[in-house]
Amino acid sequence: MSNFVLVCADCGHTVPFAPNLPGCPQCHNEWLEARYDYASLGPNLPARLAVRGKDLWRYRELLPIHDAANVISLGEGGTPLVKVINLGLMLGRLNIYVKDERQSPTGSFKDRQATLSVSVMKEAGITEAVVASTGNVAISYAAYCARAGIKLYAFLTSLVPAEKMRECALYGAQVIKVTGTYDRAKEIAQQFARQKNLYYDRGLRSVAAVESMKTIAYEIAEQLAQAHAARPTSNGRHARYPWRAPDWYIQAVSGGLGPLGAMKGFVELHKMGLINRVPQLACIQADGCAPMAHAFRRGLETAEPVLVPRTHISTLSTGNPGRGYTLLKHYIDEHGGVMESVADDEAYRAVHVLAKMEGLSMEPAAAVAFAGLFKLVREGRIGPEDVVVVNCSGHTFPIQIEILGEGWSRDVELPPAESQAATPQEGLLAALERLDERVRSIAIVDDNPDAVRLIRRILQAKGAYQIYEAGTGREGLALIRSRHPDLVVLDLMMPEMDGFAVLDALRADESTRDIPVIVVTAKILTPAERERLTGQIDSLLQKGSFMDDELLSDIINALT
Ligand SMILES: Cc1ncc(COP(=O)(O)O)c(C=O)c1O
Ligand SMILES: [Zn+2]
Repeated sequence: MSNFVLVCADCGHTVPFAPNLPGCPQCHNEWLEARYDYASLGPNLPARLAVRGKDLWRYRELLPIHDAANVISLGEGGTPLVKVINLGLMLGRLNIYVKDERQSPTGSFKDRQATLSVSVMKEAGITEAVVASTGNVAISYAAYCARAGIKLYAFLTSLVPAEKMRECALYGAQVIKVTGTYDRAKEIAQQFARQKNLYYDRGLRSVAAVESMKTIAYEIAEQLAQAHAARPTSNGRHARYPWRAPDWYIQAVSGGLGPLGAMKGFVELHKMGLINRVPQLACIQADGCAPMAHAFRRGLETAEPVLVPRTHISTLSTGNPGRGYTLLKHYIDEHGGVMESVADDEAYRAVHVLAKMEGLSMEPAAAVAFAGLFKLVREGRIGPEDVVVVNCSGHTFPIQIEILGEGWSRDVELPPAESQAATPQEGLLAALERLDERVRSIAIVDDNPDAVRLIRRILQAKGAYQIYEAGTGREGLALIRSRHPDLVVLDLMMPEMDGFAVLDALRADESTRDIPVIVVTAKILTPAERERLTGQIDSLLQKGSFMDDELLSDIINALT
């Protein structure tokens, strides 16, 4: 299917591909890179792809498989690129996209790695293999190995949640629990493979693995080109580049395979003349296991291993990133970007925000990338116009209680089944009625329907508010006068009657004088305008710069 050579990252020696190749035959370095004939592939690629299916094998010329008959596929790749509008409004960044890798066959982006690696194994005639994993790789390999007729030994740290281990076993893999860290599990797995003379999957150092992850970049660039249809440039001509790179690519990192592959993909697209530049990269780790972020902050070329990871997000527990760090840092040195880390709690909060604001439910490891996004926005590193793609790499996981907090369910108590026939219908209706007790009422007055939806969503997700909405100042005033809400959320810039005028009218009328008002505005206020609001409102929030819980806590304060 493809024509490529392997080039040694250290001495430049060129070698033909073989899956079991331990490294460069000349200098024994383990890191080899696949190179293709970019100059001849680039110009024809978009036209060829136009008639192909959407799974990742559409890029077959650029993948290290020789014979299509060896491909083991479950329809991986081709995942949606979803614009997150509510989140974008909240952060004041309107071009945020989520690469939704949850929609992969086993629910994580590791299916890309599994399809390539297992197909390569099949092509090499391998029938037994060993892998070490923090969970998702093992699940994915187990599924693909089942189809390929390959026996898989999966070494998992005992920190991996039991549900993930069982999923792996369901596919027929032999699960081996290692008490200890992920780094330790890798050592034991490698020893086992050596003793039994079995194929050991070398993760990041495997050519197939890196090559698989570059398809994320290819898909993003194709999808973004469609989302931002080619606009004429300032001199009236259409853009010279058929595809489009984001300004930022953000991913949660353990060993770093995902971003290493994705960055190789962007660089290849640039070489092929399909995009105009390579994006900045943000690698986000969990604070309790952040060897890369620590080293990056100190400007080091190699990362110091974390011996005992202290995070509950076990998926991201590579303590020793080895050369993976150095390679990623080189991409950042060349194209810009950052390595950051976030607390477990910040990731849990991001799980909740993405689920309730966008309907995207993900595992905490994937949410680490979103918590990183919030941090980079807060620090002003990501600008208002930047096109940002966040890799949402893992599926929902049995939801940890700390993510939800209290009050996430309400009870309906029914009598035992035998006596249900005798339950008076009214009793049941009254019980259901009580479920919907909307204790406080809030009026939202804003002429921007997106802003109204965002505020409504923030309130709904918290529960029992009766919400009234008005799209103009005049309507808002009438609504407030007739409904007497417990609180008003008011925009300032509205045509005809603006927020200041609504506020003056409310304060001049005895029946509305005491209703608390929270102003949510996109306007940068002059000192005189600020003065006008002083003493008149309960709080002031700038649109695009507050998170859901900040608005909620202002509301709760104003209502008490
Ligand atoms: C959901 C999820 N996110 C992120 C990662 C980090 O992977 P890597 O650093 O190897 O790209 C993993 C690894 O298993 C994962 O499953
Ligand atoms: Zn070499």
